[in-house]
Amino acid sequence: MSNHRINGDRLITRLDALAAIGATPEGGCRRLALSDEDKAGRDWLCAEMTALGLDVKVDAIGNIVGILRGQEPGPAVIMGSHIDTVATGGRFDGALGVIGGLEVIATLRDLGLQPKRDVAVIAFTNEEGARFQPDMLGSYVWLGGMSVAEGQAQQDADGFVLGTELRRIGYEGAEKPGFLKAHAYFELHIEQGPVLEHEGGGIGAVTGIQGITWLEMTFGGQPNHGGTTPMKYRKDAGLAAARLNVFAHGVTTRIPGQLANMGFIRVEPGNVNVVPETVTVTLDLRNPDQARLDAAEAEIRAYAEAIAAEAGLTVSMRDLARFPPTPFDEAMIGKVEGAAKALGLPVRRMISGAGHDAQMMAQLCPTAMIFVPSIGGLSHNPKEFSEAADMVAGANILLAVVLDVANA
Ligand code: GLV
Ligand code: MN
Ligand code: MN
Repeated sequence: MSNHRINGDRLITRLDALAAIGATPEGGCRRLALSDEDKAGRDWLCAEMTALGLDVKVDAIGNIVGILRGQEPGPAVIMGSHIDTVATGGRFDGALGVIGGLEVIATLRDLGLQPKRDVAVIAFTNEEGARFQPDMLGSYVWLGGMSVAEGQAQQDADGFVLGTELRRIGYEGAEKPGFLKAHAYFELHIEQGPVLEHEGGGIGAVTGIQGITWLEMTFGGQPNHGGTTPMKYRKDAGLAAARLNVFAHGVTTRIPGQLANMGFIRVEPGNVNVVPETVTVTLDLRNPDQARLDAAEAEIRAYAEAIAAEAGLTVSMRDLARFPPTPFDEAMIGKVEGAAKALGLPVRRMISGAGHDAQMMAQLCPTAMIFVPSIGGLSHNPKEFSEAADMVAGANILLAVVLDVANA
């Protein structure tokens, strides 16, 4: 593997520049997918790619692709991640993978190196799933798991339609998703958890991503006076949602590896003195083991049906996302480990708790991810932070593996 090094100052300068777009007073970022802030981030990214002399293309779901042409035609070595954030996002989730990829290409340019294969960096649309579901929507469409029409038809919680928003910000491109064939995919990302920091730092060679099931459930009851209606006569949709949340937590204590999060609760009409009529909640269920994930989902669905029946409520359920546990490619994981060791960095194999575009790309080509430590294990939080030296080290590993695979 090569001894070349990226330009660390330039990597951090670019991370700061993107973080200034949609910056929040708490020190984080808010660039919800296809918002005005996302558009500004996209404009900045396209300008950076153009300045590097890349062939910049946008596909019909808004994925932005910058390509450095190789010496020979054929499938590309692709790097990528996302620049959208959750509503209370940090500075580095997603941004590091895209800007790290950009930095790898800038370094190749500095060195006058033209690899044998095309080398590309992609910013995928709506990875977070915070505004439109499912998460990883752009890479899912890229993979062909969802059609462009279906992707563009997704609506956010306020009824805004993805395709309309894409056109509004000017990012419905002409390319067909998946137009650039992939030889391999690498994604540099912050860990977003506490493991590396607690184990003394270093690099995570990611072995795969756990399964993800997102459900939306809506309980329907009867709005009534909160002061006059005896408890036994109420049809309280809010109580059902609360019981469901507690139940889901109980499931996580019984099923090994199971996680559950009720991250969204909308109560209607939402008045202090009105018994809740309609309550919509989301459940984010994850497990590295598909059978256990399925068992947890089945228990939670059955409980929701049972408590609705018991209280005379209606309940409806909708899938928001459903992605199986996804192992990465053994040879590519080995290359990440090898590059870390060559740089004298401690490296450990680990599974990813978060979803990433790599989970989709792994179905197209040999894939691996590089994790760098997150301070305090915080992410999806404005206080998300990683040390510059760790991010630079991660980008150097990305450079080494990409050069290796692009010239092999
Ligand atoms: C993406 O950030 C996820 O929810 O894992
Ligand atoms: Mn991310
Ligand atoms: Mn995220």
